[in-house]
Amino acid sequence: MKKRYIRHASELVTCRGKAPKFGKEMADIGLIKDGAVIIHDDKIIEVGTTEELDKKVNMEEYEVLDASGKTVLPGFVDSHTHFIFGGYRADEFSWRLKGDSYMSIMERGGGINATVNPTREASKEELKEAGRERLNRMLEFGVTTVEGKSGYGMDCDTELKQLRAMKELDEEHPVDIVRTFLGPHSVLPQWKGREREFLDEMLCNVMPKVREENLAEFADIFTEQGVFNIEDSEYYLTRAKEMGFKLKIHADEMYPLGGAQLAARVGAVSADHLLKASDEGIQQMKEQGVISTLLPATAFCLKEEYAPGRKMIDEGCAVAIASDLNPGSCFTNSIPLLIALGCIYMNMSVEEVITALTINGAAAVDRADRIGSIEPGKQADMVFLKYPSVYYLPYHTGINLVETVIKNGETVYHKEWL
Ligand code: NIG
Ligand code: FE
Repeated sequence: MKKRYIRHASELVTCRGKAPKFGKEMADIGLIKDGAVIIHDDKIIEVGTTEELDKKVNMEEYEVLDASGKTVLPGFVDSHTHFIFGGYRADEFSWRLKGDSYMSIMERGGGINATVNPTREASKEELKEAGRERLNRMLEFGVTTVEGKSGYGMDCDTELKQLRAMKELDEEHPVDIVRTFLGPHSVLPQWKGREREFLDEMLCNVMPKVREENLAEFADIFTEQGVFNIEDSEYYLTRAKEMGFKLKIHADEMYPLGGAQLAARVGAVSADHLLKASDEGIQQMKEQGVISTLLPATAFCLKEEYAPGRKMIDEGCAVAIASDLNPGSCFTNSIPLLIALGCIYMNMSVEEVITALTINGAAAVDRADRIGSIEPGKQADMVFLKYPSVYYLPYHTGINLVETVIKNGETVYHKEWL
């Protein structure tokens, strides 16, 4: 058995206790000064102060890791990404800088549909190669679990290819990958006006294969004006749930369509984006325990107003923050950017942002029983920062402070500061 003992962490952020954390609970990150953690193989065995745990540990049996001067946190959970795709859309970014909107680019054939052909043309190996590089970049930011969606094929072969690429990467790469089927990501021209038929095609001919091969745990849909309406989304989500999928929704991003209420109605695990979520939607997410997943880097890249994160927390919602890494609206997986935007533009405290990126992110992928906190019995996924306090996270703005990443008890990344 591999035994490791972390001691003298200036600040040990545990995020312990009940999960997810709603409203005011998000401000409590279970901080321990001069913290220590005992790890056996891939599991956390005990957590406390160095003084307490020194009494229990026979140092000779352990590999001792000195975390003095460092902050130790749970590994970050990036609970919403589209990191498997072919091609790039850098031109769209420059068009938006000149005043085009995301939806107008989509209406004239760009946007999500423009990623479909390059993704159909890429082999599974090519998708994996690009995906592996992106996972390496995530790991450097301290991400130990990521959610990844299909949705750039919108035909059976390509959707399965994207999911298989992620399944294989999950087995080969230290970062854990939670897979989501997002066949209804947009409406291709040949399906315009026949959205129900397209959804039936996904439900009857694609999703049974996804289940058979255990390729995805979640099903998702882009519910938006001009994409899938509430009625069709509800039809799809209800049937997906009957098939055994857990649910996520791209909801109320550009237009207040009622996606948050739909998420509550169908018992979705999370509703994501929510820039335009209504008061009623916020209330219903809170009441039904739907995680409100906010993607501030997308709002930043699209120059949209941020989701009302402060209000959601004040109203008692469980908020998660994720990157939304994708080739169009948001080609970044920068955790420091998310922290800066969460604190500065969504008026969240450092503690709330940490909760949103750890235990509430874990809840958004339905893994809060295994990851997202540093507690006995949990997977030993953690991050050491170069600095002694969590307050350096927004303060050293936009800078990656991650020095060491431990995944399943093993050191999988370490940075020497030159
Ligand atoms: O979450 N809003 C819909 N889907 C993605 C964008 C994907 C793309 O532009 O390629 C999102 O932002
Ligand atoms: Fe998305």
